[in-house]
This record gives sequence, C-alpha cells and structure tokens, in this order.
Amino acid sequence: MQVLRSSDALDSLAYAIALPLTTESALAGAAKELDALLGGDIAEILASGEFKAKLGESTLLHAGGHPFKRVLLVGIGDAAAFTPAVMAKFAGTAVRALGKRGLKKIALAMPVQAMGSEALCAAFAAEGAIAGCFETSQYQSKPERAIAIDEVTLLAHGVDAKALEKGIARGIAIGEAVNLARRLAITPANDMTPTHLAAEATALAKSHGFDIKVRDAEWAQKHKMGSFLSVAQGSAQPPAFIVMHYRGDPESEKLLALVGKGITFDTGGISLKPPEKMEEMKYDMSGGAGVIAAMGAIAKLKPKYNVVGIVPATENMPGGKATKPGDIVRASNGTTIEVINTDAEGRLVLADALVYATSLKATHIVDAATLTGACVIALGHAASATVGNDDTFADLFLDAVKGCGERYWRMPLYDDYSTAMKSDIADLKNTGGRPAGTLTAAAFLKNFVESTPWLHLDIAGTAYVDGETAWSAKGPTGTPVRAFVNLVERLAQ
Ligand code: BES
Ligand code: MN
Ligand code: ZN
Repeated sequence: MQVLRSSDALDSLAYAIALPLTTESALAGAAKELDALLGGDIAEILASGEFKAKLGESTLLHAGGHPFKRVLLVGIGDAAAFTPAVMAKFAGTAVRALGKRGLKKIALAMPVQAMGSEALCAAFAAEGAIAGCFETSQYQSKPERAIAIDEVTLLAHGVDAKALEKGIARGIAIGEAVNLARRLAITPANDMTPTHLAAEATALAKSHGFDIKVRDAEWAQKHKMGSFLSVAQGSAQPPAFIVMHYRGDPESEKLLALVGKGITFDTGGISLKPPEKMEEMKYDMSGGAGVIAAMGAIAKLKPKYNVVGIVPATENMPGGKATKPGDIVRASNGTTIEVINTDAEGRLVLADALVYATSLKATHIVDAATLTGACVIALGHAASATVGNDDTFADLFLDAVKGCGERYWRMPLYDDYSTAMKSDIADLKNTGGRPAGTLTAAAFLKNFVESTPWLHLDIAGTAYVDGETAWSAKGPTGTPVRAFVNLVERLAQ
C-alpha cells in the first residue's frame, strides 16, 4: 500500500474520499467544500440524526455525478477530545470500511483540528491506514476479510509539504513495523519456531540495514545461560538467542537495550497449562516480535541513538528432557533459581537476556513480555503494566509514549515483592504465589539488571485482543512497537 500526499485537488479525484466529522456537526474546511459539491447532502445527513459522528462510525454516500465516486463520512468524536492519535483511528476506519468494499484508491481529508500539528497528524494517519489494512486471513484458501486498498492519498490544504512528507514517512515506518510484529505474532507455532523467528529477524536486518547475530544453544551454554537453556531443554526445536544492533550514534556510550520475551509457544512445560485458550500461547513471543519489528522502524527512521535488541527465543514444552518442578538452575550472572513452576518460564529466559544486556554496557534497559495472567486481571486489555527501578527513566518513558496509541500504567516495585521470590534452598524461586503476580515477576527480573535504569512492560493483556474495532482487526495489536519507537526518538532528542 502506498500513502501519498496531495494538496487541495479535491475535484480531480475519481475515487472515494473519507471525510472526518466531529459530533458538533459544524461543517468546516474540506467538509464544507464537499457538502457544497454534493448540494448539501452531508448537512442533510447530519441534520437527520442518523449519523452521530461517534469515533469509528461511518456511512457511505455515492456521489454519482461528481468527479469523485464516493464519500465516506467517518466519525471522529468530540472536537474537544481530538488528539493526533485520533487520526490513526480515522484512517483505519476509512481503509477498513472502503477496503472491504473492494475499493483500491482512496483519499483521506485532514480535519481542521489537525491543522497546527499536521506533521504529527499525517504520521498517525499513515500509521493508522497501514495498520487498518492488516488482516488475519493469510492461512485461508479464500481470504474472507480481504482489504483491497493499495493507494491512500492524504488531502490537506495549504500546509508545509515537507513537514507532511516527513510525518507520512514516519507513520509508514511505524505502521509497517506494527504490522510486521502482528504477522510474526499471529503465525502459528508450527511455522513460527525460534529458528523461523530468527530467520524473519535476519531478513529484516538485511532489508532495513541493521546488524544481527543469531546465537545457538552451544553459544548460550558457553555464556552460562542456564536459566534460558532450562526452558529450551524441554523442546525438540532448537532455541535461538537473537541480538540486533542499530548504531545511530557510534561516538556515544549511550546504549538502549530492548529485550523481548520470545516464547514461540508456551505449553507451561511439565506444569502443563489447561487446554482452554492454550492456542493463544502462540502469542507468547509478542514481546520479541515487538523488539524485532521496532528495530526495523528504528533503522528506517535513523534516530541518533544506539539500540540493541535482544530476543531469547524458545518453545516451552514438556519433553523428556524438560525441567521439572524443584530443579535448580543457574543464570549467567551466577544467580541460582529454584523452578517451582515451569509455566513461569518467561522470567527465566528474560533473566539471561537482561544479564546479557548489562554485559553489553546498556545504559537503559526496557523489556517487554506477555509475562503474567495476573496483569490481565489487574489492567485488562486497556493498558500494559510498567514497572521499573528508576523513577527518572520511568517518567521519561511514560511521557515519551503518551498519546502514541498504546497505554502504559506504572505499578510499584516494593521490597515486599522481592521477599516473596526468595527460595529456601536457592537464591531465588521463580514464582511468588498469587498475590501481585505481575509485580513479584518484576521483582524477580530486577535481580538481573544490576543498577542499570530498567523498565519492565507486561503486555499480557495488550499484545492481542479478542474484539475487532472499526479501525483494527482482532488478534495481535503490535504492542509495544509504537512505544519503543517513541522512546528511542525521545532519547535521541
Ligand atoms: N505466557 C504466560 C502468561 C500469559 C497468560 C500471557 C495469559 C497471556 C495470557 C506466562 O508464561 C505464564 O504462564 N505465567 C504464569 C506465571 C505463574 C505460573 C507464576 C501465569 O501468569 O499464570
Ligand atoms: Mn508460562
Ligand atoms: Zn509464557
């Protein structure tokens, strides 16, 4: 799909125009012009009360004798509640409503509210248009929900063309990364093995120009990654420890490590999960997919900052060589861990990945993981839990990701949670009981970052969702790609 830009060429467009309308139903800008061309049809629909302009609502008009064939009215909610991120939902709604009807070329009119921050709004529009085209029918012989869009034009009057183009390029980079993360996540585990995930990362590194090393079990053994390997040993699939480098500021010592949980399938291991919804555990590499995809966007946008992406990838299977409850394993920093529950495997693979990040002298670390069911209980699908050891870094992160289209909510990291993770016979155990499961998991991870400013993002409730919206397919969401890109851009400022 192409996202282009055109100025005020309303009358030369022989295809569908999506027109954003607010609940106030006052026609302004492009809406006013279009209404005049249509002889007052839009004003009439608004007056009828049939179309309330709620966010995501849309209705199609056939514009018969006019140079353009159709007009899609798209609700963008209250004008007072407008933020640039609304543009992503507007664009997503438009591509989905029109694309499902088989239309290929469409134009999006920028609302007057977008003026003043048009570059940012153009970025969100481009991102939303691309993300809106994501569909989940790759494995269907006859795709049921194909979206036909192959060209989207952004219509704006008298704006700075350069700024708009820059915004669009940024939106494309983020939107494509979001969709890549979603595609990797939704691919079933029989195809998405650790080896395959590494191959996808390698292909991306080649096309987007960043460095990559895919390390095998033998390498991990040499690095004494007993915690990571204790999860991998139950599977017939070889693990992959993926390390990606983007060097945006080679002179600087500053290095951000992005670490993503890469469990390509989580059966629970010997502490086997119940069958209900176990198929969703193909999504247990969403954090890793987010890191890989974000590296692609970062390499494309070229912020002046160094980033290393680390993805410990393995299945969690109950094979004959699998770790058993009660086994004690040793992480690469020497910490011994009593494995109480083999289903708490995410923290085990992250432990060695975090130690590796500190060994690379990362100056900031952020990990993302579908880590705990408890997080879904605490925050539902509305936000990712954010836990860390450094208030300044947490504040910077939360400010950088504000309004990016993903939500993050800070949770505490009291010493009480660390107490819950003490083992009687090893340094740590890998579960801390039911209370505050998200935070005891974070307290476990804290042991592997030394004093490096670090944030843990639990995306168990946000990496994939059950329901479709007007602007987005159901299934994987691309979280945390948007946050990662925004964070790197902020650090580079
Ligand atoms: N991958 C799961 C967490 C998860 C659950 C993600 C539901 C998305 C939806 C993780 O590996 C896990 O099994 N966690 C356990 C930890 C427990 C054994 C301490 C959990 O949350 O039950
Ligand atoms: Mn698990
Ligand atoms: Zn898991």
